[in-house]
Amino acid sequence: MTADPTLRQRHIAAAHAAGIVRDGMVVGYGTGRAAMSVMDMLAPRVHDGLRVLGVPTSVATAAHAAKLGLPLTDLDTYPSLDLTLDGADEVDPSRNLIKGGGAALFREKVLAAASQRLVIVIDATKRVPRLGATRPIPVEVLPFAVGSCLRLLGRIGGDALRRLDESGAPVVTDNGNHVLDVAFDASRMVDPRALDEAMRAIPGIIITGLFWSFNPTVVVGTDTGVEVVGPAL
Ligand code: A5P
Repeated sequence: MTADPTLRQRHIAAAHAAGIVRDGMVVGYGTGRAAMSVMDMLAPRVHDGLRVLGVPTSVATAAHAAKLGLPLTDLDTYPSLDLTLDGADEVDPSRNLIKGGGAALFREKVLAAASQRLVIVIDATKRVPRLGATRPIPVEVLPFAVGSCLRLLGRIGGDALRRLDESGAPVVTDNGNHVLDVAFDASRMVDPRALDEAMRAIPGIIITGLFWSFNPTVVVGTDTGVEVVGPAL
Protein backbone atom coordinates (compact mmCIF):
# COMPACT_ATOMS: atom_id res chain seq x y z
CA MET A 1 0.00 0.00 0.00
CA THR A 2 1.30 3.44 -0.94
CA ALA A 3 2.51 6.10 1.49
CA ASP A 4 0.77 8.92 -0.44
CA PRO A 5 -2.40 9.58 1.61
CA THR A 6 -4.41 10.86 -1.35
CA LEU A 7 -3.54 7.85 -3.45
CA ARG A 8 -4.29 5.53 -0.55
CA GLN A 9 -7.68 7.18 0.00
CA ARG A 10 -8.52 6.87 -3.69
CA HIS A 11 -7.55 3.20 -3.70
CA ILE A 12 -9.70 2.22 -0.74
CA ALA A 13 -12.67 4.15 -2.16
CA ALA A 14 -12.15 2.47 -5.55
CA ALA A 15 -12.00 -0.98 -3.96
CA HIS A 16 -15.28 -0.30 -2.16
CA ALA A 17 -16.98 0.91 -5.35
CA ALA A 18 -15.70 -2.03 -7.40
CA GLY A 19 -17.27 -4.31 -4.79
CA ILE A 20 -20.80 -3.11 -5.52
CA VAL A 21 -20.80 -4.34 -9.13
CA ARG A 22 -23.03 -7.40 -9.44
CA ASP A 23 -23.16 -10.23 -11.96
CA GLY A 24 -24.99 -9.30 -15.15
CA MET A 25 -24.68 -5.52 -14.73
CA VAL A 26 -24.00 -3.06 -17.54
CA VAL A 27 -21.91 -0.23 -16.13
CA GLY A 28 -20.42 3.05 -17.27
CA TYR A 29 -16.70 3.53 -16.79
CA GLY A 30 -15.64 7.11 -16.04
CA THR A 31 -12.39 8.83 -16.93
CA GLY A 32 -9.42 9.69 -14.72
CA ARG A 33 -7.40 8.14 -11.94
CA ALA A 34 -10.29 7.10 -9.69
CA ALA A 35 -12.26 5.51 -12.52
CA MET A 36 -9.21 3.62 -13.73
CA SER A 37 -8.51 2.45 -10.20
CA VAL A 38 -12.08 1.07 -9.97
CA MET A 39 -11.52 -0.79 -13.24
CA ASP A 40 -8.20 -2.17 -11.96
CA MET A 41 -10.00 -3.57 -8.92
CA LEU A 42 -12.92 -4.92 -10.91
CA ALA A 43 -10.76 -6.77 -13.43
CA PRO A 44 -9.79 -9.71 -11.16
CA ARG A 45 -13.47 -10.32 -10.39
CA VAL A 46 -14.24 -10.38 -14.13
CA HIS A 47 -11.38 -12.78 -14.75
CA ASP A 48 -12.89 -14.98 -12.01
CA GLY A 49 -16.20 -15.13 -13.91
CA LEU A 50 -18.19 -12.00 -13.00
CA ARG A 51 -20.19 -11.03 -16.11
CA VAL A 52 -20.06 -7.28 -16.58
CA LEU A 53 -20.33 -5.16 -19.69
CA GLY A 54 -18.97 -1.63 -19.66
CA VAL A 55 -19.51 1.55 -21.64
CA PRO A 56 -16.42 3.83 -21.59
CA THR A 57 -16.55 7.62 -21.25
CA SER A 58 -13.36 8.23 -23.23
CA VAL A 59 -10.90 6.77 -25.68
CA ALA A 60 -8.40 6.51 -22.80
CA THR A 61 -10.87 4.56 -20.67
CA ALA A 62 -11.68 2.24 -23.57
CA ALA A 63 -7.96 1.55 -23.98
CA HIS A 64 -7.59 0.86 -20.26
CA ALA A 65 -10.53 -1.55 -20.34
CA ALA A 66 -9.01 -3.36 -23.32
CA LYS A 67 -5.68 -3.65 -21.50
CA LEU A 68 -7.45 -5.16 -18.47
CA GLY A 69 -9.61 -7.49 -20.56
CA LEU A 70 -12.87 -5.80 -19.47
CA PRO A 71 -15.54 -6.35 -22.15
CA LEU A 72 -17.13 -3.22 -23.60
CA THR A 73 -20.45 -2.38 -25.20
CA ASP A 74 -22.20 0.85 -26.24
CA LEU A 75 -25.29 2.95 -25.60
CA ASP A 76 -26.94 1.84 -28.83
CA THR A 77 -26.99 -1.72 -27.50
CA TYR A 78 -27.67 -0.75 -23.86
CA PRO A 79 -29.29 2.71 -23.67
CA SER A 80 -29.93 2.26 -19.93
CA LEU A 81 -27.04 1.36 -17.59
CA ASP A 82 -27.27 -0.11 -14.09
CA LEU A 83 -24.71 2.32 -12.76
CA THR A 84 -21.76 4.47 -13.72
CA LEU A 85 -18.53 4.52 -11.71
CA ASP A 86 -16.62 7.77 -12.07
CA GLY A 87 -14.43 10.31 -10.31
CA ALA A 88 -14.92 14.03 -9.76
CA ASP A 89 -12.84 17.16 -9.38
CA GLU A 90 -14.99 18.69 -6.63
CA VAL A 91 -17.98 17.54 -4.56
CA ASP A 92 -19.98 20.03 -2.46
CA PRO A 93 -22.07 19.19 0.64
CA SER A 94 -25.21 18.75 -1.53
CA ARG A 95 -23.28 16.32 -3.77
CA ASN A 96 -23.18 18.71 -6.70
CA LEU A 97 -20.04 18.05 -8.72
CA ILE A 98 -17.47 19.71 -10.92
CA LYS A 99 -16.16 17.28 -13.52
CA GLY A 100 -14.11 17.55 -16.67
CA GLY A 101 -10.57 17.97 -15.38
CA GLY A 102 -9.72 15.17 -17.80
CA ALA A 103 -11.77 16.76 -20.63
CA ALA A 104 -14.23 13.85 -20.75
CA LEU A 105 -17.18 15.82 -19.32
CA PHE A 106 -19.51 15.39 -22.30
CA ARG A 107 -19.52 11.60 -22.38
CA GLU A 108 -19.41 11.50 -18.58
CA LYS A 109 -22.62 13.52 -18.42
CA VAL A 110 -24.24 11.40 -21.14
CA LEU A 111 -23.49 8.22 -19.17
CA ALA A 112 -24.56 9.77 -15.87
CA ALA A 113 -27.92 10.59 -17.47
CA ALA A 114 -28.19 7.09 -18.94
CA SER A 115 -27.49 5.40 -15.59
CA GLN A 116 -29.90 4.39 -12.88
CA ARG A 117 -27.23 5.29 -10.34
CA LEU A 118 -24.11 7.43 -10.43
CA VAL A 119 -21.32 6.38 -8.06
CA ILE A 120 -18.55 8.94 -7.57
CA VAL A 121 -15.22 7.80 -6.17
CA ILE A 122 -12.98 10.45 -4.58
CA ASP A 123 -10.25 11.05 -2.06
CA ALA A 124 -11.06 13.40 0.81
CA THR A 125 -9.38 16.42 -0.83
CA LYS A 126 -12.16 16.55 -3.45
CA ARG A 127 -14.76 17.56 -0.86
CA VAL A 128 -15.23 21.31 -0.89
CA PRO A 129 -17.53 23.70 1.02
CA ARG A 130 -18.71 25.19 -2.30
CA LEU A 131 -18.06 24.40 -5.95
CA GLY A 132 -15.28 26.46 -7.50
CA ALA A 133 -13.24 26.47 -4.31
CA THR A 134 -10.24 24.78 -5.91
CA ARG A 135 -10.71 25.09 -9.66
CA PRO A 136 -12.72 26.67 -12.51
CA ILE A 137 -15.57 24.94 -14.35
CA PRO A 138 -14.68 22.99 -17.52
CA VAL A 139 -16.97 23.71 -20.46
CA GLU A 140 -16.93 21.87 -23.82
CA VAL A 141 -17.27 24.23 -26.77
CA LEU A 142 -17.45 23.91 -30.56
CA PRO A 143 -14.10 25.09 -31.97
CA PHE A 144 -15.93 27.45 -34.38
CA ALA A 145 -17.54 29.28 -31.46
CA VAL A 146 -14.63 29.60 -29.00
CA GLY A 147 -14.08 33.33 -29.56
CA SER A 148 -17.72 34.30 -29.10
CA CYS A 149 -18.13 31.92 -26.13
CA LEU A 150 -15.15 33.53 -24.36
CA ARG A 151 -16.74 36.96 -24.84
CA LEU A 152 -20.29 35.92 -23.88
CA LEU A 153 -19.10 34.01 -20.82
CA GLY A 154 -17.46 37.28 -19.76
CA ARG A 155 -20.82 39.03 -20.04
CA ILE A 156 -22.31 36.68 -17.43
CA GLY A 157 -19.34 37.15 -15.10
CA GLY A 158 -17.19 34.23 -16.21
CA ASP A 159 -13.42 34.52 -16.47
CA ALA A 160 -12.79 31.93 -19.20
CA LEU A 161 -9.54 30.52 -20.58
CA ARG A 162 -9.13 28.05 -23.42
CA ARG A 163 -7.43 24.87 -22.12
CA LEU A 164 -4.07 24.21 -23.78
CA ASP A 165 -1.85 21.14 -23.83
CA GLU A 166 1.88 21.06 -22.96
CA SER A 167 2.79 22.23 -26.48
CA GLY A 168 0.46 25.24 -26.23
CA ALA A 169 -2.12 23.81 -28.64
CA PRO A 170 -5.82 23.71 -27.69
CA VAL A 171 -6.88 20.54 -25.92
CA VAL A 172 -9.18 18.61 -28.26
CA THR A 173 -11.79 16.37 -26.69
CA ASP A 174 -12.71 12.88 -27.92
CA ASN A 175 -15.63 14.62 -29.66
CA GLY A 176 -13.35 17.01 -31.60
CA ASN A 177 -14.24 20.05 -29.47
CA HIS A 178 -12.29 22.48 -27.28
CA VAL A 179 -12.44 23.04 -23.52
CA LEU A 180 -12.75 26.35 -21.68
CA ASP A 181 -12.07 26.62 -17.95
CA VAL A 182 -14.37 29.25 -16.47
CA ALA A 183 -14.05 30.89 -13.06
CA PHE A 184 -16.91 32.76 -11.39
CA ASP A 185 -17.24 34.74 -8.17
CA ALA A 186 -18.27 32.66 -5.17
CA SER A 187 -21.70 34.30 -5.22
CA ARG A 188 -22.45 32.75 -8.65
CA MET A 189 -21.44 29.26 -7.48
CA VAL A 190 -24.21 28.90 -4.89
CA ASP A 191 -26.76 27.87 -7.54
CA PRO A 192 -25.05 25.35 -9.90
CA ARG A 193 -28.26 24.71 -11.81
CA ALA A 194 -28.81 28.39 -12.64
CA LEU A 195 -25.18 28.81 -13.61
CA ASP A 196 -25.24 25.68 -15.78
CA GLU A 197 -28.37 26.93 -17.54
CA ALA A 198 -26.92 30.40 -18.06
CA MET A 199 -23.78 28.97 -19.65
CA ARG A 200 -25.66 26.50 -21.82
CA ALA A 201 -27.79 29.35 -23.18
CA ILE A 202 -24.67 30.59 -25.00
CA PRO A 203 -24.59 29.20 -28.56
CA GLY A 204 -21.54 26.99 -29.04
CA ILE A 205 -21.41 25.70 -25.46
CA ILE A 206 -22.22 22.02 -25.68
CA ILE A 207 -22.08 20.99 -22.05
CA THR A 208 -20.67 22.17 -18.74
CA GLY A 209 -18.81 20.31 -16.02
CA LEU A 210 -21.46 21.26 -13.43
CA PHE A 211 -23.26 18.04 -12.44
CA TRP A 212 -26.16 19.13 -10.24
CA SER A 213 -29.03 16.77 -11.13
CA PHE A 214 -27.74 13.25 -10.60
CA ASN A 215 -28.14 12.57 -6.85
CA PRO A 216 -24.90 10.56 -6.83
CA THR A 217 -23.65 8.19 -4.21
CA VAL A 218 -20.24 9.54 -3.24
CA VAL A 219 -17.64 7.08 -1.97
CA VAL A 220 -14.96 9.02 -0.11
CA GLY A 221 -11.66 7.48 0.89
CA THR A 222 -10.41 8.95 4.17
CA ASP A 223 -7.48 8.29 6.47
CA THR A 224 -9.72 6.12 8.62
CA GLY A 225 -11.65 4.21 5.95
CA VAL A 226 -14.48 4.70 3.49
CA GLU A 227 -17.39 7.08 3.94
CA VAL A 228 -20.45 6.65 1.71
CA VAL A 229 -22.63 9.75 1.24
CA GLY A 230 -25.97 9.81 -0.56
CA PRO A 231 -28.20 6.94 -1.69
CA ALA A 232 -27.15 3.61 -0.17
CA LEU A 233 -25.17 1.27 -2.37
C1 A5P B 1 -12.58 13.57 -16.36
O1 A5P B 1 -12.99 14.44 -17.36
C2 A5P B 1 -13.00 14.08 -15.02
O2 A5P B 1 -14.35 14.38 -14.90
C3 A5P B 1 -12.56 13.17 -13.90
O3 A5P B 1 -13.59 12.35 -13.43
C4 A5P B 1 -12.10 14.03 -12.81
O4 A5P B 1 -11.18 14.95 -13.37
C5 A5P B 1 -11.46 13.26 -11.68
O5 A5P B 1 -10.26 12.70 -12.10
P1 A5P B 1 -9.30 11.97 -11.09
O6 A5P B 1 -10.00 10.77 -10.57
O7 A5P B 1 -8.10 11.64 -11.94
O8 A5P B 1 -8.96 12.96 -10.01
